[in-house]
Amino acid sequence: MKKGFLLAQLLCLCVLLCACAPRAAEPVKPDEAQLTVVGFSQVGAESDWRLGNTSSMVQAFSAENGYRLILEDAQQKQEKQITAIRNFINQGVDYIVLAPTTENGWDTVLSEARAAGIPVILVDRRIEVEDESLFTCWVGSDFRREGDTAARWMEENLPETLRIVHLQGNIGSSAQIGRTEGLMAALQKHPGWELVFQAPGDFTQAKGQELIESLLREKTAFDVIYSENDNMAYGAIDALKAAGLTPGRDVSILSFDASAAALRLVLSGEINLDVECNPLHGPRVRAIIEQLRRGETPAKYTYVDETSFDAENLTEGIIVQRGY
Ligand code: AHR
Repeated sequence: MKKGFLLAQLLCLCVLLCACAPRAAEPVKPDEAQLTVVGFSQVGAESDWRLGNTSSMVQAFSAENGYRLILEDAQQKQEKQITAIRNFINQGVDYIVLAPTTENGWDTVLSEARAAGIPVILVDRRIEVEDESLFTCWVGSDFRREGDTAARWMEENLPETLRIVHLQGNIGSSAQIGRTEGLMAALQKHPGWELVFQAPGDFTQAKGQELIESLLREKTAFDVIYSENDNMAYGAIDALKAAGLTPGRDVSILSFDASAAALRLVLSGEINLDVECNPLHGPRVRAIIEQLRRGETPAKYTYVDETSFDAENLTEGIIVQRGY
């Protein structure tokens, strides 16, 4: 009898202890209605840079951080971005973030966003509009400076007589415009530099490879490939290797973005210079939105600090810490 009573008391104690014991911290589910809604119109998924950029935005605008991100991939088509922005307006999002495909053609749809009272933040590439008050601010890279950096490296490291192949990004995008301008300005200054080929490779590996393969088939001779992003450089490298050439030695390769995979190729000598273009804009855009929510005015234009890498300054440690 006594034993049974004791057992019952022990059981009660256990139940009580379990009820009072602190539980393993469970994530607090954010209240959907409290989340700030951000519509993000992304260019596409054409490059490693772009994938790094999307994932930076998704991480920055998580529910844990108080946001609901509506992500629309435009597959490199401006019409799709215009439709996405109109959808964001209809959905009544709190903020629109636009990574524009090209610089022109935004006046009408951004006027619609303004009429709906939705601030528009631009990220990565820039736009040309009649009225700059159509967007709140921009954060991204100085693409012309990137082009000048690559051209300066060529001046300092390559012979005065050069046959150059130029793989361009999407025509009309700021990344293409700035990087092309850098090369064109340098060509003016160097009579020994000859542009033997120039064509858009759409920032994709497949197109970069296709263009170089066709040049090799036609037996076009060249010394340098100026590739306006890493993915086109990867394609070019594959084409050169398939033709029995050694990239970085038989043909010098200059590229842009400096993603981890490309920096490995700088270390192995297949890419001679990679100019950094940093895609980790998520925290930057979130900081802008937080400024706006506090009633502050962010800077109209914010350039990200960037550098360039060649065999002289690149280390394994830099690659490990890349983040894209
Ligand atoms: O606008 C940035 C450019 O777009 C990157 O260099 C390229 O890789 C991307 O697709």
